[in-house]
Amino acid sequence: MNTRQVVVIPGDDAAPEAMAPVVSLIGSLVPEIDWQYPLVGEAAIEATGHALPDDTKTLIDSSETTLFGSTSGKSGAALFYLRWGKQTYANVRPTRWFPGYKSSLADPEGVDFIIVRENLEDLYLGIEGDVPELAELGLKSRTSRRPLAEFDGRYALKVITDEGSRRVITKAFELARTRRGKLTATSKYNMLSYTDGLFRDVAIDVARDFPDVEFEMFIVDDFANRLCKRPQDFDVVVMPNLYGDILSDAAAGLVGGLGMAASGCYGDDYAYFESAHGTAPDIAGQHVINPTATLLSACMMLDYMGMNEVSTRIHGAIAEVYAEGRVLTPDQGGNASTTDLCDAILARCQTR
Ligand code: IPM
Ligand code: MG
Repeated sequence: MNTRQVVVIPGDDAAPEAMAPVVSLIGSLVPEIDWQYPLVGEAAIEATGHALPDDTKTLIDSSETTLFGSTSGKSGAALFYLRWGKQTYANVRPTRWFPGYKSSLADPEGVDFIIVRENLEDLYLGIEGDVPELAELGLKSRTSRRPLAEFDGRYALKVITDEGSRRVITKAFELARTRRGKLTATSKYNMLSYTDGLFRDVAIDVARDFPDVEFEMFIVDDFANRLCKRPQDFDVVVMPNLYGDILSDAAAGLVGGLGMAASGCYGDDYAYFESAHGTAPDIAGQHVINPTATLLSACMMLDYMGMNEVSTRIHGAIAEVYAEGRVLTPDQGGNASTTDLCDAILARCQTR
């Protein structure tokens, strides 16, 4: 049997409780996957003195892909490597409602859109400091009359580049082409006319290469309002990093919460998959974390690996289990454990 190597980083707090049954579910459907668990975080520090040892990086580099549990900091070094080290610039976050998902909407029928979030730049460059440090640069505020030196505060640097915007916007257009053929771009281009204005200008420019895709653009606050009012209007939506972080969590709320929020981060040479949710420390140890987000992220991974047939089967099984509504985790109003839900989904996969 030809094996396919996948790295698993289970994550922190309750995240490993979702990861273990998901890996076991996928493992029983796709026995050729060789799951590798490299040292990261605290265990790695104890053993090697480094949060992300070279051996771990080598294993990530030589594997086809990585399935990552959420981090609360301890496995953060691995997350940084998977994003910035592997240049996974397009974070794809689908929001799709299925009957049985506990939506906050009166009518969630037909909600099926994807947020494509720029994943590497914007405020995520992580450059922060004290405002007086900037005083010598002679910068002038467009809004405040006070000289910068008088601000006893802190700053964060927001960087939007032409290249960084172009590649993610192009990916989003390509994705829209495979779906309903509609692309929405959003940023705060009225107030941040230079940085977010660049993101808008690049989107308008890239749109010329995709005349077959319907294109629209909204200022991000207006978009947030439309998202809550009529999420059915959207197909693929592309936006800078921080707005994407915030709005993808909001989007998950529309279809039943973070328990359903899948995510995949794609670069030109590598992709890795992780649920959009955090580590749920409040329920750690209880084995009730909803594994659907991790499982749906693993399905995106299977699609990436060319195993679309298995992923379609799992999707169908998830839809059946939710529609039936007998085995659900507490966040969806049930009292099943994480493993109960995975077992029910696996049983459905096996009869499909
Ligand atoms: C996410 C998370 C991360 C982010 C954190 C853990 C750094 O919230 O993947 O959405 O902000 O990107
Ligand atoms: Mg987030």
